[in-house]
Amino acid sequence: MTDTPRCEYRLDLTHVDAPDTAQSASPAAGARHLANPPDGAVMREVRASDASALAELMLDAYSGTTDDENGTLDDAAAEVHRFLDGEYGDPMLGSSFVCESGERILSAVLTSHWCERDTPFICFAMTSTASKRIGLGTALLSRALSALRATGASEVRAVITRGNTPSEQLFMRTGFEEVK
Ligand SMILES: CC(C)(COP(=O)(O)OP(=O)(O)OC[C@H]1O[C@@H](n2cnc3c(N)ncnc32)[C@H](O)[C@@H]1OP(=O)(O)O)[C@@H](O)C(=O)NCCC(=O)NCCS
Repeated sequence: MTDTPRCEYRLDLTHVDAPDTAQSASPAAGARHLANPPDGAVMREVRASDASALAELMLDAYSGTTDDENGTLDDAAAEVHRFLDGEYGDPMLGSSFVCESGERILSAVLTSHWCERDTPFICFAMTSTASKRIGLGTALLSRALSALRATGASEVRAVITRGNTPSEQLFMRTGFEEVK
């Protein structure tokens, strides 16, 4: 964890649409925001069996960013297991999504239940270096918000390191506001 201040963000979910089931079954479903979806990319819910692929994604996605801790693949695997084991609140796999192409996960949004706030929490949003800035983060986050809305959740929170511009922009463009 870096020493840079981390800021809490919140989004009111009451205006978010519930999922479009017709779209959710199609390849790269929910990726309507994508200008150029990667060939064969599929968007789906996270499974516990994704742990290894998520660790590889995490190591790659954070590399060189504000939140890079120069960790190893084992460190990333431990972090993914902390998420799956509920150390960041009960994982909400039905509201957590990946975009995969073949065996690789290109991007993921992982959601848990933040007990202290009694609200869903976007625990991780990450996109592989080679797949950044083509809309995957936006598409997956939008999908997660719709799924959360369908659970009846009225708000969702996130915590972002100040100065993590890609993350700040991604969340603010999606409607999150900093909690003052
Ligand atoms: C944050 C992150 C998930 C964004 O994923 P992404 O798939 O690249 O996001 P998108 O392509 O949907 O971009 C959405 C918007 O975010 C902003 N953004 C993304 N990357 C940016 C960058 N490098 N600089 C400035 N803004 C950026 C832009 O506003 C962008 O929209 P635009 O391309 O139309 O201008 C990705 O950069 C990442 O994995 N970062 C490392 C992990 C991390 O810090 N996660 C957040 C904390 S959990």
